[in-house]
Amino acid sequence: MGHDHDHGHEHGHHHGHDHHHTDIDWSAMAPRLEVQAELFTSLYERAMAWLADKQTEPGLIVDAGSGPGVVACLLAEAFPGARVVAVDGTEPLLDHARTRADRLGVGDRFGTLAGELPGVLDELDYPADLLWASRSLHHLGDQRAALAAFAARLAPGGTLALMEGGLPPRFLPRDLGFGRPGLQARLDALEEEWFADMRANLPGAVAETEDWPALMTSAGLRPTGTRTFLLDLPAPAKDRARAYIADSLTRLRDGFGDHLDADDRTTLDRLLDPDDKASVHHRPDVFVLAAHTVHTAVRAA
Ligand SMILES: C[S@@+](CC[C@H](N)C(=O)[O-])C[C@H]1O[C@@H](n2cnc3c(N)ncnc32)[C@H](O)[C@@H]1O
Repeated sequence: MGHDHDHGHEHGHHHGHDHHHTDIDWSAMAPRLEVQAELFTSLYERAMAWLADKQTEPGLIVDAGSGPGVVACLLAEAFPGARVVAVDGTEPLLDHARTRADRLGVGDRFGTLAGELPGVLDELDYPADLLWASRSLHHLGDQRAALAAFAARLAPGGTLALMEGGLPPRFLPRDLGFGRPGLQARLDALEEEWFADMRANLPGAVAETEDWPALMTSAGLRPTGTRTFLLDLPAPAKDRARAYIADSLTRLRDGFGDHLDADDRTTLDRLLDPDDKASVHHRPDVFVLAAHTVHTAVRAA
């Protein structure tokens, strides 16, 4: 999971050396994406405060690959003078975004645009002063071409903020008191393989050195900074964090269970059994530690 992971992918049941299932059913992921983004609110707010310090108040913000709009609404709150357009390929997720914006009282300056990135950006009426893309670029086959398209949609002096990379999230102590220590590192390795397959199977997939500032430079932008934001929810995790941990581990068990050895599978089953006092539902030593990196670049004024 070294690429950034949303901990929200639907994993197929055939991961490994046979045919891997790497298509993602984004509509089905609405609740998971929302719960996760809500848990990560403080991280996003700190990232946005960093962005706000670096630029003048944006008039138009575009959230490319917004999903259900938790982050797009946070952008609307962080930049009260801006109009925000949430762009995504999955229309039902945009319905969530719209509902959320109305509920939070920012609906009057919130729009949505449905379609495939990056081409759909051509339908925007105005260039963006801030184009935010968090954990969406890595779902596009040609990341270099997508970055060029993002750059082309920026107003002169506008900023591209790309959230990609960081560290795989951790929830568990290395030694759980049962099973073989280091379970989470082994799960990370499986997820990393899944991620590589997911990318390789994207339409028009192009392998790329993921040096984001260099790619932004080749898209004609000037990199202006890279910073990593931490989510540090120490043990004992509270209910919301625990629900996220249980959901993440359930997804990993469903996706990769067949590729773990019997000992690790038993350990994961114990961790997910609500009747077991040693499960993540009850044990006091579970936490959430995650790090997401944001890279910024500007278009010449
Ligand atoms: C991992 S989610 C990230 C959501 C949100 N930006 C966040 O950080 O929580 C990736 C999003 O990209 C969207 N997406 C993936 N491929 C896409 C494509 N080719 N065109 C448009 N949207 C796409 C998905 O529908 C999903 O909402």
